[in-house]
Amino acid sequence: MQTVNTVSDLRAIITPWRLANESVAFVPTMGNLHSGHLQLVNEAKKTADHVVVSIFVNPTQFGAGEDFETYPRTEHEDREKLEDADTDLLFLPAVAEVYSQDAKTTVTVTGLSDLYCGASRPGHFSGVATIVCKLFNIVQPDIALFGLKDFQQLAIIRTMVRDLNIPVEIIGIDTVRESNGLAMSSRNGYLTDDEKKIAPRLYRSLCAAQDAVLAGRHTFPDIEQQALQFLQEAGFRPDYFFVCRSSDLQKATGEDVDLVILAAAKLGKTRLIDNVHFSR
Ligand code: PAJ
Repeated sequence: MQTVNTVSDLRAIITPWRLANESVAFVPTMGNLHSGHLQLVNEAKKTADHVVVSIFVNPTQFGAGEDFETYPRTEHEDREKLEDADTDLLFLPAVAEVYSQDAKTTVTVTGLSDLYCGASRPGHFSGVATIVCKLFNIVQPDIALFGLKDFQQLAIIRTMVRDLNIPVEIIGIDTVRESNGLAMSSRNGYLTDDEKKIAPRLYRSLCAAQDAVLAGRHTFPDIEQQALQFLQEAGFRPDYFFVCRSSDLQKATGEDVDLVILAAAKLGKTRLIDNVHFSR
């Protein structure tokens, strides 16, 4: 695996691949890699001749008072995991390499970015869309892979790619979970031992809501309310829990067939998000 820190070094490696008509798959990450990230890399290997991974803790997607400073940075371990996964190229830029001091351009996918996680984290999804757009321009991949765990993020990226005619195919990959159901996340490392026992109940609440919908209950507000109460009693501070249409993430009605239930809740100082998507 080659590792580069600058855009020009990255391009010097990728340009010959492109000239030889070899395809490039790209997996953007913020590092502290776990099996969820590595699943994206494994799938990427199947889809293209070369796999590029970026590790960049993107300051513009963190709000004031959030965990930018303390976000786990584990470069050495990450590098070993990517070597083992047969990654071709790791892009590991410094903030100054990516953002010019007087940058004046940002990317915002309107509407979608203000819902759910966007409502709790103002500006977060503009930071995500801007960095992903920039990374697409830097790497110019044929294919890019993202986790369905961040369902709203994936919807925003798909919309950006469509609206800006970015020539990249986006592939969504299923959520990788611990054996107890907890969705893998770099932020799980913040959980205390006691919180680790409670955390899997977020996924349990989603599965229970899914079962209720599949059993034919159409009163989604009641299902949502019940889940919020379950989470509160388990020790979470729930942020939101909504049954949505998976196509546009609007609140679902009894008529909708393709659904996603989106949830976010705080446990101590850790914010967890998860979802289940299904058809009925
Ligand atoms: P990060 O949280 O590091 O996640 C990188 C990619 O891994 C995202 O596509 C995310 O959805 C996926 N992922 C995380 N946990 C997963 C799991 N348990 N199963 C499957 N995939 C999982 O998401 C970001 O970074 C950033 O916002 C980024 C897109 C890199 C822009 O900065």
